Amino acid sequence: MNIQNNVQLKPFNTLSLSSISSHYVKIQNIADVLDAVAYAHLANLNILVLSGGSNMLLPEHVHSLVMHMDIQGIELIAEDAQSQTLRVGAGENWHQFVLWTTRQQLYGLQNLALIPGLVGASPVQNIGAYGVEVGEFIQSVQVYDRERQQLRSILAAECDFAYRHSVFKDQPNRYIITHVTFKLPKHAELKLGYGDLKTAVGDDLTPQNLQQQVINIRQSKLPDPKDYPNVGSFFKNPVVTSQVFARISHEFPNLPHYPQANGQVKLAAGWLIDQAGWKGKQLGKVGMFHKQALVLVNYADANLTDVQATYHAVQQDVYRKFHIQLEPEPVLFAKDGLIRAHTDA
Ligand code: EPU
Repeated sequence: MNIQNNVQLKPFNTLSLSSISSHYVKIQNIADVLDAVAYAHLANLNILVLSGGSNMLLPEHVHSLVMHMDIQGIELIAEDAQSQTLRVGAGENWHQFVLWTTRQQLYGLQNLALIPGLVGASPVQNIGAYGVEVGEFIQSVQVYDRERQQLRSILAAECDFAYRHSVFKDQPNRYIITHVTFKLPKHAELKLGYGDLKTAVGDDLTPQNLQQQVINIRQSKLPDPKDYPNVGSFFKNPVVTSQVFARISHEFPNLPHYPQANGQVKLAAGWLIDQAGWKGKQLGKVGMFHKQALVLVNYADANLTDVQATYHAVQQDVYRKFHIQLEPEPVLFAKDGLIRAHTDA
C-alpha cells in the first residue's frame, strides 16, 4: 500500500476545487480496502472515499485518508434466458460501463448514458435521468461496513432507494462500496416517457439509438466539466405538498411540475433558479450556467468559500421569490474528511 502525503485533488473533482489531502491512497482491490482501513485506524484518521469526484464539494485542506477507488472488472455471475447478473468494480467508469451493456444487448441503463462518475458512486444518490433510476437495476451492493467492521453485501431492498437518495446517503460515513451487482434484462421495453425522448428516438426503437439520443440531449444542455467545471445538477428538484404547489402555481401558472405517486409534486429547480434571475448570472468566480440554470460552474479557480457564497445567494433569491428552500445535491466535506450536512455549513 502506497500512502502519499499532500496530494492535490483538483484533477480528481469535476468542480476543479483545489484541495490538498494530507494522506492519499489508491484502492485497487479488497485487500487494499482492508489495509487502508487498518492504517486509518492506527493513524487516527477519518476516511474520505473519493470516487469519480463528480458530486463532491471539497475544502482547501483535508486532514484524513483519501481512499481513491480504482477497483476494476466486470464479472458475469449469473445468466438465464431473461437476464444477466453482473458484478462490477466500484472504480469502473459509469459511462463506459453503460456503453458496454448496450453492446452486449442488455437493456435498462441506456437512459443513464453520459452521467459522469464511477460505478461505485451510482447507488449512493441513486443516479437518475430520463425516467430511469439506477436502483431499479441493482441487485445488491458490496461494501466494507465501517460500523460492523466487516465486508458484506446489501440487497437492493435494504438500500432504501428513492429520488436522489439511498441508505448510503442516510449514513454517510459508514460504507465503502467495493462492487455493485446489476441484473439487466436481455429483452425489455425501452423507457421513452420522459419529455420529448420518444420524439427524439423516433422509429428506431433500439437500445443503441435510445442511448445515442440521451447522449445528444445531455450534450446539448449540460456543460462538459473539462470546459466548465461543474457537478451536474447542483440542487435537487424540490418535492412539495399539493398545497404548496397550488400556492405557487396560482401565481406562476407555467411552473413545470411532475406529480408523484404519493400525491406530492416535484418542481423543476432549474426553472425556479431561472425565474429568480440566476440563469447565466455569476457572483465572483462562480455562477449558474447560461444554458441550464441548475448547473453551477466554477469559472475561475474558485474555492469552496466562493462556491458557497454563490449557492447561498441562489438559495436566498429562490426563497424570497417562491418560499422554497433548495437543497444542494453534491456531498459537502469538512476539513476532517467527514461528510457534513449543508445546513451546518
Ligand atoms: N428549466 C428552465 N430553465 C433552466 C433549466 C430548466 O426553465 O435554466 C425548465 C425546463 O424547461 C424544464 C424543467 O425546468 O421544463 C426541467 O428541466 P430539465 O428537463 O432540464 O431537467 P431537470 O429537472 O433540470 C433532471 C435531473 C438531471 C437529469 C434530467 C433528465 C435533478 C436534480 N436533475 O434535471 O440530472 O439529467 O432531469 O432526467 O433531478 C444531475 O443530477 O446531475 C442531472 C443532470
